Amino acid sequence: SITFQKIKMKRMPFILLALTMFVCLSAKAQAQSSIPQVEALLEKMTIEEKIGQLNLLTPGGGVATGSVVSENVEAKIKAGNVGGLFGVAGPDKVRMAQKIAVEQTRLGIPLLIGSDVIHGYKTTFPLPLGLAATWDMELINRTAQVAAKEATADGINWNFSPMVDISRDPRWGRISEGAGEDPFLGSAIARAMVTGYQQDDLTRPNTMIATVKHFALYGAAEGGRDYNSVDMGRVKMFNDYLPPYKAAIDAGVASVMSSFNDIDGVPATGNKWLLTDLLRDKWGFKGFVVSDYTSLNEMIAHGLGNLQAVSAQALNAGLDMDMVGEGFLTTLKKSLDEGKVTEDEITQACRRILEAKYKLGLFEDPYRYNDETRPEKDILSKDNRALAREAARKSFVLLKNENNTLPLKKDAKIALVGPLADSQNNMLGTWSPTGDTKYAVPILEGFKNVAAGAKITYAKGANISNDKAFAEKINVFGPRIEIDERTPETMLKEALEAAKKADVVVAVAGEATEMTGEASSMTSISIPESQKMLIRALAKTGKPVVLVLMSGRPLTIEEEMGLPVSILQVWHPGVEAGNAIADVVFGNYNPSGKITASWPRNVGQIPVYHSMKNTGRPELKKEWEKFKSSYLDVDNSPLIPFGFGLSYTTFEYSDIKVDHSEITQDQPVNISVTVKNTGNYDGEEVVQLYLHDVVRSITPPKRTLKGFQKVMINKGERKTITLTLTPDDLKFYNGNLDFIAEPGVFEVYVGGNSDAQLKTQFTLK
Ligand code: BGC
Repeated sequence: SITFQKIKMKRMPFILLALTMFVCLSAKAQAQSSIPQVEALLEKMTIEEKIGQLNLLTPGGGVATGSVVSENVEAKIKAGNVGGLFGVAGPDKVRMAQKIAVEQTRLGIPLLIGSDVIHGYKTTFPLPLGLAATWDMELINRTAQVAAKEATADGINWNFSPMVDISRDPRWGRISEGAGEDPFLGSAIARAMVTGYQQDDLTRPNTMIATVKHFALYGAAEGGRDYNSVDMGRVKMFNDYLPPYKAAIDAGVASVMSSFNDIDGVPATGNKWLLTDLLRDKWGFKGFVVSDYTSLNEMIAHGLGNLQAVSAQALNAGLDMDMVGEGFLTTLKKSLDEGKVTEDEITQACRRILEAKYKLGLFEDPYRYNDETRPEKDILSKDNRALAREAARKSFVLLKNENNTLPLKKDAKIALVGPLADSQNNMLGTWSPTGDTKYAVPILEGFKNVAAGAKITYAKGANISNDKAFAEKINVFGPRIEIDERTPETMLKEALEAAKKADVVVAVAGEATEMTGEASSMTSISIPESQKMLIRALAKTGKPVVLVLMSGRPLTIEEEMGLPVSILQVWHPGVEAGNAIADVVFGNYNPSGKITASWPRNVGQIPVYHSMKNTGRPELKKEWEKFKSSYLDVDNSPLIPFGFGLSYTTFEYSDIKVDHSEITQDQPVNISVTVKNTGNYDGEEVVQLYLHDVVRSITPPKRTLKGFQKVMINKGERKTITLTLTPDDLKFYNGNLDFIAEPGVFEVYVGGNSDAQLKTQFTLK
């Protein structure tokens, strides 16, 4: 449900008049589209028709059942009051909507058809935070291509993804939807996704418009509480939070979504500095900006005035399309009559929407995404599912392998326990509205598929949570936490009995899918107590225990890391969950994922991230010292550092070399290192490079990620890896927000995580 909430000319009149005319004419010339068809259409449009194009609606009822032709929406389309729809899918349904727009409106302008295709369409891939943990840009790009192929087969031509919000706050539920804490990695992922969705030609029927969101800084909400205010200095903004949005824009993303939060007291949706000065004037963005869901109307609750005032402010600021709120539709004409907005502003917003439709080829053929034969071939195909399985297993992070318990033998006697061990409803992960849980492979089933010879006893062991009120909040999109009729004691007893008879226990625990995602902020991010009890009891049995941990965020697991258990972090793995987990547990695939957001020791330590500053009083010794920047009760370091992840094999780093000990400003520098696989399995390693700018005009981070490469190294094999630092990699935004590199010494660390110790250095002249 949606609540809606001048110049007196006394002297030299002619010169001034001529000057004014010149300025106006050149401004108009600048604004003109390079697409003649768009200009020709604009000439024909009434002001009402232009405003209509700025209106994005959703018919409601969810993607699968959304009735396109619900009275209201149909009438509005016919009246020329709709520029696009979302939440409607299927080539036939989309065709019906498109037909109304094309055949029953005066100008026959086709609709944009949007959707949230966040981590796959029907073939659901791992959560974005899990996908990021693969550090595999080519793979991420392929998942986006498949998502585009499936979505366009179902009539979609515009995707509300990628979300590239940097977040260093795991209390924020939407950390699951992004790439984690780091702008360098986040930018690489932004490029991989944009080019995956759009490729190089939007008129192709298997590509769609991508939307970079949520512009901007949405991941830095105070206290990790969703939709909350953001207060951040410009230096931090430019260095740490803005780069992934910019990377998406440089990669050609065709639309931008404004965020819910305010920045310096101005909601992003009505923020002229953000949407015009920065986005268009500084970064040169040429596409269109859409609001987030009713974020325009929400400016009323933010305290900026009534619907007419906030709508005018948003248009003045540079917003082009209003999602769901109908503020533009219902007030812009009045604001125009009252001189609060100009006709040029309305025309310009409309021009950008029409250009997007033109780029998609919709004017040429409005039904190019409505081939009824495509869904069957293109959606959930064998190949797509194979990619989902590959992506999932590559996203898993081995946090601990106690006594090398993993991988398990395929004929082992296994007690498979835990509330997520056979829970089809919790495999896809949050924000997979286009996916369908019925296609998901639960873990019990995956174990049977991969290890047919294993003797598996299943027991639920515990509820995800015993708290009914909490469960209700998590179950708004269907059952995720199902509280058993049996008592916790009875369930625990059953699990312990299964454990007694087994060689090894696999416990699947963690978060239900909707415990992360939008409006799922938490002040406690530990495994729920009901499951902690199960894990403690299992650890005491003396049997080897493997904890398969599911979550959409970093969790505080200090207790579990201290128990004699192995821990495999699997996020919410998507449609092939069970098969992919079994692949790793039984050794068909050697884990290679690395976390992309530091895992804190406790909530009080947030924010904790790898690129923190030294401060004037750094902790230099291992032992605690008075008057240092530290805590009395815990270490400064995170429980699990950024970039960390184990393998079934081991890698040894040596021979770090830099090709030039001195470089000039326009010269790249190559760092090479030898990595040897010293264990018993072939495996992949993510070789990471961290840079420390020793002296500069604004305080530098202790180290910051500036390079990585994922490599396959067979057992016993040794490889030399070369990572190149480009001149831009040495640059940062200084106090004047100039992007520069300052001469001096740069230290370089290379290794398998952000604590890498192998070091070299070079000097920038
Ligand atoms: C979310 C966006 C999403 C939009 C449309 C909003 O609540 O913040 O990420 O694209 O809804 O579904």
